[in-house]
Amino acid sequence: MDAGLENVVAAETVLSDVDGLAGRLIIRGHEVGELAAKASFEEATHLLWQGFFSDLPKVDVLKRRIGDARAKVFHKLPRPSSELLALGPVRVLRVLLARLSDDESLECALELAAAPAVITAWAMRARGQMPLNAPDPEQSHAADFLAMLLGHRPSEAEAGALNSYLVTICDHGLNASTFAARVVASTRAGLGSAAIAGLSALKGLLHGGAPGPVLDMLDAIGTAENATKWIEGALDRGERLMGFGHRVYRVRDPRADALKATVKRLPREAGRLALAEEIERVSLQELAARKPDRKLDTNVEFYTALLLEALQIPREAFTCVFAMGRIAGWIAHAKEQIATGRIVRPQSTYVGPVPEHAG
Ligand code: ACO
Repeated sequence: MDAGLENVVAAETVLSDVDGLAGRLIIRGHEVGELAAKASFEEATHLLWQGFFSDLPKVDVLKRRIGDARAKVFHKLPRPSSELLALGPVRVLRVLLARLSDDESLECALELAAAPAVITAWAMRARGQMPLNAPDPEQSHAADFLAMLLGHRPSEAEAGALNSYLVTICDHGLNASTFAARVVASTRAGLGSAAIAGLSALKGLLHGGAPGPVLDMLDAIGTAENATKWIEGALDRGERLMGFGHRVYRVRDPRADALKATVKRLPREAGRLALAEEIERVSLQELAARKPDRKLDTNVEFYTALLLEALQIPREAFTCVFAMGRIAGWIAHAKEQIATGRIVRPQSTYVGPVPEHAG
C-alpha cells in the first residue's frame, strides 16, 4: 500500500518527463527553459496535442482557432451575479467550465483551452464592477488575457513574460491534477469533465493553490530583517512554507529559476525580488537544518507568485492563471489515457470491520 502513490507508475506518456534527481523537465523532447524561451503558448499546445487529434490543424490555424474559441466562450458567459462571483475566481471557473461542451473532440478541446483566460478576466472584472472586455481573437492568448483583465494592451515584455509562464507550466508528468484528469477521462466522461477534475485538484493549497499564500507570507514578513523570526515561528508551529518542497524534485525545481529570470526582466518588480530572495535563503537554511534527511528546495510556486504579481494579476486569480497553462497538458493527458482503452481502477486493502459470521 502506497497512500501517496509515490512509487506507483500509473501511465506511459510521451508528453513530459520530470527527473527529480537531476532537476530536469522535458516536454515532448524539449528542455522546459528552452521551450519557454522560444515557443508561444499556442505552439506549446500544438506540440502537446500532436498525435491526439486526427483533425489537429497546423500551428498558425490552431492559434487562430484558440482566438476564435475565446470569442465563443465570451459569448456563452452568463450575466454576472453576486451569488456566482462570491464563490471566488477558481470556483467561478469551475462552474462556468461545466457549462461548456464535454466530449472528446478538437472543438471541445479548443473551447476548454480558451476558457480559463476568458472566464478569469471576466470574473475579476465583474467582481470589481469594472467594464467587461471582449476577447480579440487576433491577439496571442497571453496578450489577450492581460488586455481583458487589465483593460489595456500589455507591453510586449509583459505579454512575453506571461507567455513564458504558461509554457513553463503547461505540463509536468503525473502531478495530482493531471492524474485526476486522466482518471476521469478514462471513464470516457469527456474532456470538460477531465479538465474540471484537474482544476479541482489544482485548487488545493498543496498544489496550484500555493502562490497566493506565498505573497501572503512575503507581506506578513514585510522586511528582510523579519525573515528569520517569522520563518522559525511558522516552522515551530508545524506549518509548511508555501513555495518549498516537492514530491518528485530532490533538487531545485528547474522552473523556479526560469521564472525568476523572467521576473527580473520586468520593470515593475521593484524591491520585491530582493525581499523574496532573502526569504528564500532563510527558508532553505531553516528547512535544511530541520529536515536534514529530506532535501526541501524551492518549487515553481515561489517565483510564480512574484511573476504574476509583477504582471498586476490579483493573487486570488493565480490558480486560474496556472490552469490557463496547465489545461493544455490536462487535455493531452486525457486523450493519451483514452487511447489506452483502460479505465483507471486501482485496488484498496480493506482494514475495516468484518461481519461476525464471516468465516
Ligand atoms: N515546509 C515545511 N515542511 C515541509 C514542506 C514545506 N514546504 N514540505 C515538506 N515538508 C516536510 C513535511 O511536513 C514532512 O515532514 P515530516 O517528515 O516531519 O512529516 C517532510 O518535509 C517530508 O515531506 P514530503 O514527504 O517530502 O512532502 P510531500 O511529498 O508529501 O509533499 C508538497 C510535497 C505537498 C509539495 C509539500 O512539500 C508542501 O506541502 N509544500 C508546500 C506547498 C507548495 O508549495 N505546494 C506547491 C507544490 S508545486 C505544485 O504543485 C505545482
